[in-house]
Formats: sequence, structure tokens, C-alpha cells
Amino acid sequence: MDRPRITIFDTTLRDGEQSPGCSMNVQEKLRLAQQLDRLGVDVIEAGFPIASDGDFEAVRRISASVRRPIIAGLARACTGDVDRAWQALQGAAHPRIHIFLATSDIHLKYKLRITREQCLEQARNAVRHAKSLCADVEFSPEDATRTDVAFLCQVVEAVIEAGATTVNIPDTVGYSMPEEYGQLIRTLREKVAGIDKVVISTHCHNDLGLAVANSLAGVQNGARQVECTINGIGERAGNASLEEIVMAMRVRPDRYGYETGVASEHLFSSSQMLAEITRVPVQPNKAIIGRNAFAHEAGIHQDGMLKNPLTYEIMTPQSVGVPDSRLVLGKHSGRHALALRCEQLGHQFERRDLDEIYRRFVVLADRIKKVQDSHLLELIQDVSSGMASNCESSGGHSRKFPPATASLSLPRAASAAAGINSSEGHGAHVAGSAGQAQVTIPFSDHHSEQEDYLWGV
Ligand code: KIV
Ligand code: ZN
Repeated sequence: MDRPRITIFDTTLRDGEQSPGCSMNVQEKLRLAQQLDRLGVDVIEAGFPIASDGDFEAVRRISASVRRPIIAGLARACTGDVDRAWQALQGAAHPRIHIFLATSDIHLKYKLRITREQCLEQARNAVRHAKSLCADVEFSPEDATRTDVAFLCQVVEAVIEAGATTVNIPDTVGYSMPEEYGQLIRTLREKVAGIDKVVISTHCHNDLGLAVANSLAGVQNGARQVECTINGIGERAGNASLEEIVMAMRVRPDRYGYETGVASEHLFSSSQMLAEITRVPVQPNKAIIGRNAFAHEAGIHQDGMLKNPLTYEIMTPQSVGVPDSRLVLGKHSGRHALALRCEQLGHQFERRDLDEIYRRFVVLADRIKKVQDSHLLELIQDVSSGMASNCESSGGHSRKFPPATASLSLPRAASAAAGINSSEGHGAHVAGSAGQAQVTIPFSDHHSEQEDYLWGV
């Protein structure tokens, strides 16, 4: 029997990008969108077009080049935002306008300074206008979980009447408990006229560490779309983590009899690519894709693993694309093994670029014997920034950073390969501050306007 399909709505490029230190330039967003396409997500929320020219351009470029998934653009509930979102999305094969408006009394009174009646009217008008432009319209009552339930039902009914096709229920401040969130979805299904014609969606923040649990409770009570991000990045404590949602359903079909279109073997490379682009590392014990997620240190565990991996592993590393640790990269490795590992880390290279990476890799491997993924990523980053600066001088994209200098810690071995002096010698294993060299990277541009603009989202 077919299991119900859950739409995976990835908002790494929008809500995720709003996390401190996670902003991305157009080129980086495009690269990640292509990876999300490979991963098989159903919807990519590519940005908030009115927020900045960069965001507009990212949504426009992703719309033009990523053709399989739905591409969504965010808009506040006003004509200017909706028009700007539509301008950016027009070229998409499957465009979606995503409108949000806060509905909780606390947001209406202190942030928006409007009445419930005005809120209702504004939501209805914005959805109606969006519907005149685009068939696929999503509406989010921001702070839904702290909204009076009767009023929330009224707003949801009004936007469905106005033409919304997906209704998203954000736990904007991560306040809800799983039973409570599940109950809210059930109440909407019972009380709102026309709800059976639309898709109900979850959007849960992780302030109490419950974003994934809340999203799954939503699904068990009838939600059929989950909004989530790679590595769980997002405002404050983040969003529901895509990899955890997908693997919870895959590992426990007895409890969650649903399926997604995600090709789980691309989860690890997607996570690595995001960490590399944002330079925000993944915590080692992060479920599914953390460095320790498949590591076994204790003797009893190692013994069990050697006898039968099922003793301590509920999924295989291969099922989420964690590279085969038996493939050790050293000075005897060839281009093929190197290319494969780069691919597993989310990088595909043309022959000429791979040659350059290989040349530096051999120099590094000669010094440190075993090249770890972190070394390889630093090396790739170094070679790629060389490519990007060539590109910049010929009019290509430029990275956007505050006009300052910042320190970046590079593993000693990788900095040696990059030609940076380190006073200490090289070891086979490089980790922690003792094994790191400081380099100063000049930052060239300013990127705070967009961050200032994205209040409260
Ligand atoms: O958390 C939130 O309420 C949002 C909405 C814009 C969906 O991000
Ligand atoms: Zn959010």
C-alpha cells in the first residue's frame, strides 16, 4: 500500500540564512540550491526578494536554473512585497509566493500595531493579490502557536477562501510542546471550512529543542508538508533539521508511515556543503550528519560493532552518505579516490580544477600522511577562492562581508599546503587550537542591511 507523501519544504536559503553568521551570496545560494535539487527536496524557499537586491537576484537566478522543485519566495502581506516576490519568481518552472503575517495578539499590539480585524483584512487582500499572479500561494500566520485559536481558525479560513493552496502553521518562537502542536493541527482540520482542499504545513523553531518532535507531531495529526533546514540552521536556536525529519521517517516507518522524495545518501554532502559555505561547523554529536554520529569509542561498543553493526547502529553510514571511513586518503591515493571523496563532501570539479587540487593534495599528504576531510575542505576552499578571485577580477560575483578583517583558524597542515607559515611542525592528526594557525582574511563588502531588514521572521 502507498504511504502518504510528505512534501519537504527546505528553507535553508531563507530562514536558515537568517541565522547569525549564515548569510550567503548569490553564487553560494545557487550552488546550494543545485545541491538541494540533487537531494530531492520538493520546495526550495530561495529567499525574501524585497529584503535586498542580493536576495532578489538569488531567487531570480535559482528560479531560472533549478527547474524540478517548486521555488518559493517570501513576502510580507502587502502589495509591494508580493509584486517583488513575483518579479523574482516569474521565470520559475514551478513558482510559489509565500506570504506571512503575524496573528498573535502580542505581535499585533506591539509589533504591527493593528487590530485583529485589520489583520484579517490584510491577510485576505494579500493572498487575493498573490493569487491573481500565481496559482501556488502559501500563507503563514506568524506566531500561530501563541495566537488565540478561534482567531487563528478565522484567519486560516479567510486565506483559504482568498485562494491559498498551502497553510503553514509556524511555531515561530519554539514555544509549543509536541502534544499541543499536534492538537492545534487537529483542531484546524476539525474547525476550518475548506481545510481539506489545502496542504497543512509545519514550521517549527527549536528554542526548546523540540522542533523535530513538534513537526512529527504535526505530521501525525494531518500536516503533509514540513518546513525544515539542512543542519537545522535558522533564527535563534534554528529550525527543524531536515536530515532528522527525513531519517526519523525512514528508520521508523512503523511509527511514521510516510515517505519523502529525499535521496538520503546526499544528506551528508549537503550538510558539508552548507557548513563549508557558511563556515559554521556542525556540532560533532549532531544526529545523522555529525562527525561522531557513526563513531564508536567505547570498547564494549567497538566489540559489538565488530560482531554485528546492528548492535549499535540504527542506520548505516552509507544510507546518509557518510563516506566509507576505510577509504583513507594518503600520498598513495589517486585522482579517482580524491574526486570521489570531494564528491562525497559536496564538490564536483572539472578536470583542470581537480588537477590543481590533486597537486596540492599530494604535497600535503607527503607531509601529514593521512588527509582528513577537514584538511581536504580547507584545501578545496583555498583553491576555490583562488578561482573566485580570478573570476572577480574578470567581472564575476563577489562575496559580501562586513568591511573589516576577521580571523579564521586553519588546521596547521592545510595552512602549510596553502603556503601559510606555521611555527610548529606537522602531525598526522591535527585538531584543536594547538594544531591551528591563525590567518587574517580581508573582508571586502557590507552585508548588514539585509540582516537589519529581516525583523521578527
Ligand atoms: O518562523 C516563522 O514564523 C517564519 C515565517 C515567515 C514562516 O519564518
Ligand atoms: Zn521561521
